[in-house]
Amino acid sequence: MKNGTNFVPGLEGVVAAETRLSHVDGLAGELIIGGFPLAELAANATFEETVYLLWNGRLPTATELTTFQHKLAAYRTVPPATLALLKSVAAENAPTMDALRIGAGTLSLGVPNEQLALAIVARFPTIVAAYWRFLQGQEPIVPRTDLSHAANYLYMLTGAEPSAARVRGLETYLNTVVDHGLNASTFAARVIIATNSDLVSAVTGAVGALKGPLHGGAPGPALDTVFEIGTPERAELVLRAKLDAGERLMGFGHRIYKVRDPRAEVLEAAAEQMFAADGDLALYELAKEVEATAVTLLAEYKAGRNLQTNVEFYTALLLHGLGLETDLFTPTFAISRAAGWIAHCLEQQRYGRLIRPQSAYIGEKGLAWQPISLRG
Ligand code: ACO
Repeated sequence: MKNGTNFVPGLEGVVAAETRLSHVDGLAGELIIGGFPLAELAANATFEETVYLLWNGRLPTATELTTFQHKLAAYRTVPPATLALLKSVAAENAPTMDALRIGAGTLSLGVPNEQLALAIVARFPTIVAAYWRFLQGQEPIVPRTDLSHAANYLYMLTGAEPSAARVRGLETYLNTVVDHGLNASTFAARVIIATNSDLVSAVTGAVGALKGPLHGGAPGPALDTVFEIGTPERAELVLRAKLDAGERLMGFGHRIYKVRDPRAEVLEAAAEQMFAADGDLALYELAKEVEATAVTLLAEYKAGRNLQTNVEFYTALLLHGLGLETDLFTPTFAISRAAGWIAHCLEQQRYGRLIRPQSAYIGEKGLAWQPISLRG
């Protein structure tokens, strides 16, 4: 309550939708996706199974999964107009997240309305990988239909078929971040679709919301901090200096979670598994030390705020271990979350109610018009 109205800054605690897609309990540190506790789903499902679950309300049978995989894979190739646009954007050296937003806007080209959901999810990785290669002065790699969604994304980035450990690591990541209640980008998507607009518009708007560092844009900076620290004994020194300078520690704190983000738990385990099989275990150990020090210092500097590790911290580590550069972190988040945005849009369409809150006017009233010559 503020200014005598029922205005709630940041809509904190306001319930603006009913959903069957995911449930976040920030005090218990619990995340449910499509009925499953996150830890149960994330490390077991393929990404295609998770998308099917969110769009259909249940896991697919073997036949349904095969059909769904084929349908999705068939849409991987983007039209030449999209590639040409991405190439010219790369000449401007724009961040990959901007290129994804620009490329996403073209996804309605040549796709019938009822296939847009499949096309968006199928083509997000193609846009990101093609743009990334243009940025490196390379030609895009044609997507393969015989690889899974996750494997094909890694393949399109590098041209090499990824190891099973890497595919599993990415798959677990994509499952982990696919949906998360009424987060800012999902809310943006629901607001857009609720006007009876289309899925491409909703998802393009959501990409814009996800880009911000207070939402999906934090993993790059979180990893930068780990590298800046470099060795475990420097963690306290560097982190104290940041807090003394009034900086926020990236990868910590959350509007909803007041305990450790359950996604951090799942991604930490996935990172450990992947780094042990196919990566640099010393970096994983360093990150664990940085995390422990950060949480201790945040309790000291921001007592009572319950600032804990959020999803971005171990996202950074896992995606780095997959060989992705930091500019690809948020776009990779978007590759997963696009499926969640679409699931929310489908739910919102079934609900069918325009989202139109009110504002509390705090400006002046009754001003008299002044001709420009008299203003001064
Ligand atoms: N480091 C240092 N201080 C922090 C941090 C942090 N990471 N997060 C919050 N605080 C402090 C704030 O400065 C504020 O202190 P004050 O009252 O003394 O000024 C207090 O904690 C409360 O902060 P708010 O901004 O009100 O909390 P809010 O719920 O709006 O913020 C947010 C959540 C934006 C995620 C915040 O914790 C943050 O900026 N974290 C760092 C960025 C980050 O990791 N973003 C990714 C979030 S995960 C996701 O969206 C997918």
